[in-house]
Amino acid sequence: MAEQIIKPRGTQDIFGDNKKIYDYITSVLDRYFKNYGVNKIDIPTFEETKLFIRSVGESTDIVNKEIYNLESKGEHQTSLRPEFTAGIMRALIENKLYATPDLPLKLGYYGSVYRYERPQKGRYRELHQGGVEFVDNNLDIITKIDCLNLFYSAAKELLGDNIYLVINYLGAEDARKKWREALREFFKSHLDTMCEDCKRRFEVNPLRILDCKVEHDHELGLNAPNITDFLSEEDKKYYDDICTELDNLGIKYKRDPHLVRGLDYYTGIVFELYLEQGDLPLALGAGGQYANLTAELNGPKMEGIGFSFGLDRLLMCFNESLKSDVLNKYALDFFVYSFNKNPEGVKEINDILKTIRNSNYSAIAAPMTKAFGGSLKQAARMNTKYLLLINEDLSLEIKDFSKREQQKISKEEFTKMLSERKF
Ligand code: HAM
Repeated sequence: MAEQIIKPRGTQDIFGDNKKIYDYITSVLDRYFKNYGVNKIDIPTFEETKLFIRSVGESTDIVNKEIYNLESKGEHQTSLRPEFTAGIMRALIENKLYATPDLPLKLGYYGSVYRYERPQKGRYRELHQGGVEFVDNNLDIITKIDCLNLFYSAAKELLGDNIYLVINYLGAEDARKKWREALREFFKSHLDTMCEDCKRRFEVNPLRILDCKVEHDHELGLNAPNITDFLSEEDKKYYDDICTELDNLGIKYKRDPHLVRGLDYYTGIVFELYLEQGDLPLALGAGGQYANLTAELNGPKMEGIGFSFGLDRLLMCFNESLKSDVLNKYALDFFVYSFNKNPEGVKEINDILKTIRNSNYSAIAAPMTKAFGGSLKQAARMNTKYLLLINEDLSLEIKDFSKREQQKISKEEFTKMLSERKF
């Protein structure tokens, strides 16, 4: 017998209740996008590899180890996107989206991204992100706070109060340059004890060492110099101003001077979102500011700030109680069962289904061949709100599952209640 084909490691089929929750997450994000004046954009799933090398950075694990390169079919080497920000900036430049008097541009997106990581809980090779990028000639503090507020508020609506941000401020180029030198100086004497990756990171970008997952190197990094020591007075004040606004908005955060993020393009504020309690110690989403990305991609010099949620990780945070709240929203309104199996019963079912659906309620009918007992159980399994029975004489009875009561109802009354949205 032929071998059964299964999905590749690190990918998932999302269906059933999980798909309902996944759709709920994107519907909530969509509402936030609309409320914050964000316009959505779709970009290709694969791009020229050099786009990611020039933006995400050659020294990052994402480009170095995790990128999926496609077999070249033409003159250009292409790769599956490992994130969105680079592609969005490419699209912004290529389509001259910046040529508008109505800056900042606020772009929102969803989709799958690909990283060749070791699959484990919360770590996929095909993952799903949803996020935004806000771009302007000079980003003002309102736009930055708007981005952070959108990120935090949407997560809070989805998951409740059990969340907090970790933030850091990477400062201007000058501060980062001094910091990089200080890090090189610090790690120089430890080099022979460090992993091979960190030896390479030491040469290319010592900031990346702070992101190392190897325990020895990670612990070493905890005593390394902080960016805070190199920030100018102006930068420190700006960072404090941002924190004051976060306080004013009731956003929970912790400052972490070691947060560097796994992508090279960040300047200024960077942030990650975590659960306060729970067994998922991974970031649920993350983002930050970038001042040089558009210029590095040969576009006009503009500043951006954005974030991406890991939709798969948000999904994992839905415990039983959060799940049942959402599934109730998606519950079936009417399950219709007819005791009259004759052609007039069939006509009545179709008629009633049409009336219900035209009133924007959901409804399904039990197959004619299905016994009443089995249909009742199916309706309960489907979390149905109302059972509608068509009797032999075509009269109607309705049962409210939440109240367990059953009563006769005329077709006229039923139609009237539908139109008045009484269900
Ligand atoms: P990132 O931190 O690489 O940032 O990814 C954002 C989020 O994607 C993470 O916080 C996490 O929730 C999710 N994620 C990343 N890798 C995996 C994985 N292997 N499996 C499951 N989920 C994962 C970025 O991608 C930046 N482009 C964010 C950004 C937007 N910065 C500015 N604008």
